[in-house]
Amino acid sequence: MEASFISTTDTLAEWREELGREGKKLVLTNGCFDLLHVGHVRYLQEARALGDALVVALNGDASVRELKGEGRPVNNAEDRAELLCALECVDRVVVFDEKRATRVIEAIRPHRYAKGGDYTPESLNPEEKAALDAAGTEIHILSLVPGKSTSATLKKMQDDNGGAKESDSNHRSPRLAVLGSGRGSNFEAIANAIDAGTLDAEIALVISDVADARILELARERNIPAIHIEPGSEKGGHLSDAALKEIVDRLQAASVDLIALAGFMRIVRAPLLTSFEGRILNIHPSLLPKYPGLGAWRQALESGDTETGCTVHLVDAGVDTGAILAQAKVPILPGDDAETLHARIQEQEHQLYPQEISKLWANHRQ
Ligand code: GRF
Repeated sequence: MEASFISTTDTLAEWREELGREGKKLVLTNGCFDLLHVGHVRYLQEARALGDALVVALNGDASVRELKGEGRPVNNAEDRAELLCALECVDRVVVFDEKRATRVIEAIRPHRYAKGGDYTPESLNPEEKAALDAAGTEIHILSLVPGKSTSATLKKMQDDNGGAKESDSNHRSPRLAVLGSGRGSNFEAIANAIDAGTLDAEIALVISDVADARILELARERNIPAIHIEPGSEKGGHLSDAALKEIVDRLQAASVDLIALAGFMRIVRAPLLTSFEGRILNIHPSLLPKYPGLGAWRQALESGDTETGCTVHLVDAGVDTGAILAQAKVPILPGDDAETLHARIQEQEHQLYPQEISKLWANHRQ
């Protein structure tokens, strides 16, 4: 793309060498920067402070569309580049059209690389990470500014838009957050239902209280923002006040409408509960109110029941006590053990959960 605000990778590669010879450090970051907001500005200032020059690798229009969906970007790449170049903290902008910035990293070989706080060095895209390692680039994860995001801005504009609000929100797909501590098969079922078009929703964020939970890996493989939040050292499955606050901040920054708990082994309370009242769902592997809490399918088996199942319910302050929305039954077969039974229950969970998310949103909009 030819425009005066956009540099080429060749020029930047030369510039990087020049800076290196002067003992200076070139910092690279990448992103869509679709609707510039103060969160971007503070992030870019922080990135610039890591070295002597800041290059922003900007996702081209096709790349933004691929990452964020049809209707984005709001501003085309040339306009976004011009805005970025007007910032004192941005020295150059380069545009890339692929989904990943790997090619730009390989060409420029920045001294330092900055990425937003949704990531950890381990959770960067493997391809980009390999390119950064090969270039000997130092990686810096910068904190995000809570409550400031392009999605939040767009949502506010939509909500503030008087008469348009009604019709827009009637047709808008919900922004979902999935919270889980484990392997994330329900997260996958939800994501697959979205891909298959049977659930009209977007997963905006995945949060786990377990740093190496598989659910985070699965989300990152799908390019869904996925973060670990340190739960604190409270006993009995409780989250610390700081953890709860951070979760609420992150959910609000991502403009989340609905929260699906999927194997989240923590008790939810205020301010999370109050901020999203009536909009937090859970899936539980029993026919509630029977067997709330841990190991529900094992309890059903040990009690000699001939039938169990799963329940989708709204979350309240208790453990698995909220209003029941739907249940699916599963027979307990002779010869079943805990594993075979849980696997059959999960098959039902994977059908039921996406359906109930869809229904809750439909009811919520009425
Ligand atoms: C599911 O069985 C769910 O009912 C329970 O935790 C399990 C989560 O499994 N709340 P996964 O992490 O979604 O695979």
